Amino acid sequence: MVDQGAVGNPLFNDNRMKLGIMAFNCSHGSTATTAPGTWPMTWPDNVALAQMADAAGFEALLPVGRWKGYPGSTNFNNRTFESFTWAAGLGALTRRIAVLATVHAPLIHPVTAAKQAVTIDHISGGRFVMNLVVGWNKVEFEMFGAEWRGHDRRYEYAAEWLDLARRLWSEEAAFDYAGEFFHGKALWSQPKPLQCPLPTMNAGSSPTGQRFSASHCDMNFAMLRQKDPASDKVQIAQLKAMAAELGRRSQCWIHAYVVCRPTEKEARDYLDFYVRERGDWEAARHMLRVFGQQSETLDKASLEAFQFHFIAGHGAYPLVGTPATIVADMDRLSAMGVDGILLSWVDYLGEGRQWIREVLPLMEQAGQRRPFPRAG
Ligand SMILES: Cc1cc2nc3c(=O)[nH]c(=O)nc-3n(C[C@H](O)[C@H](O)[C@H](O)COP(=O)(O)O)c2cc1C
Repeated sequence: MVDQGAVGNPLFNDNRMKLGIMAFNCSHGSTATTAPGTWPMTWPDNVALAQMADAAGFEALLPVGRWKGYPGSTNFNNRTFESFTWAAGLGALTRRIAVLATVHAPLIHPVTAAKQAVTIDHISGGRFVMNLVVGWNKVEFEMFGAEWRGHDRRYEYAAEWLDLARRLWSEEAAFDYAGEFFHGKALWSQPKPLQCPLPTMNAGSSPTGQRFSASHCDMNFAMLRQKDPASDKVQIAQLKAMAAELGRRSQCWIHAYVVCRPTEKEARDYLDFYVRERGDWEAARHMLRVFGQQSETLDKASLEAFQFHFIAGHGAYPLVGTPATIVADMDRLSAMGVDGILLSWVDYLGEGRQWIREVLPLMEQAGQRRPFPRAG
């Protein structure tokens, strides 16, 4: 076994603002729109995008764990690649970037998942990270006939799930397990992961979800309330303080949708076009209905306000403007405690290429990232 630092999982490098790409294992990625250029989601395009991010020194590739799309004109997220097998493929085809899999704890047994995670860790040479989620979309659970537990109960289940997986990753001798949710005899798994311990993330946003993240994971994907920067800063500080009290360090990442254009006006106009003129409002209403009913993160007023953002980028933080204003915005996010951003665009390949060409050099000049030797 080797230490995380030794194998060089880039998630632990010293870039002040780390970068990842999010949701490109799903058709339409994170934008529910019929604007031209939206993500059709083919494997060759997934590989091209992953390799482009890898060559540019990005830190992470994150798939969404999704089993069913949404009704509406786009069939939003209707076609998705399964997250472990996706990560295995991309782990083999990239060199430096961390590959993640998003795992629904209640939908897969930890003995199976622990071994899949180890396999990808070996395939990728120690660059795997597990994003453990508990689920919020009941219709997906109904596909499996899986028990739909109460909100906080789902996190209790995930804690035991992770405890069992971690023991399989670290203990050499076979052990019996008698928990509240899992029972097993002579549990055992070889080989062990290359990374010790294998890093984990969680995207809980509720108080219970954040406590789970802080207690059990190396990273949290925060969903910033975006009411004002001061309260977002408090939200992040609380998460990190909670982890510190437990003797852990927790990175805080967010998801941002990007519209970067030569002028602010062009960026706003394009955002308006793809949301107001070409947006899939039926999918947005569906998402809000499901999310509102089944997550305790957002109150009703916030859910309404998020409708626009759901179409624009699945409720993420908006990075909308010119390369310079976006870099200034990321400075503010960094000062608030954000360690990394998962990006998504309408046109992942075209706009991703633009980001590398126009935004990345400015991030380096601003000291957000170390210069990375890019080809061409
Ligand atoms: C960046 C990000 C990525 C997420 N990815 C997934 C996912 O792939 N699958 C999923 O079921 N939930 C996903 N979620 C939802 C969270 O796991 C979580 O359920 C949600 O933020 C609500 O928080 P709560 O469970 O604490 O109420 C994601 C959330 C964020 C912010």
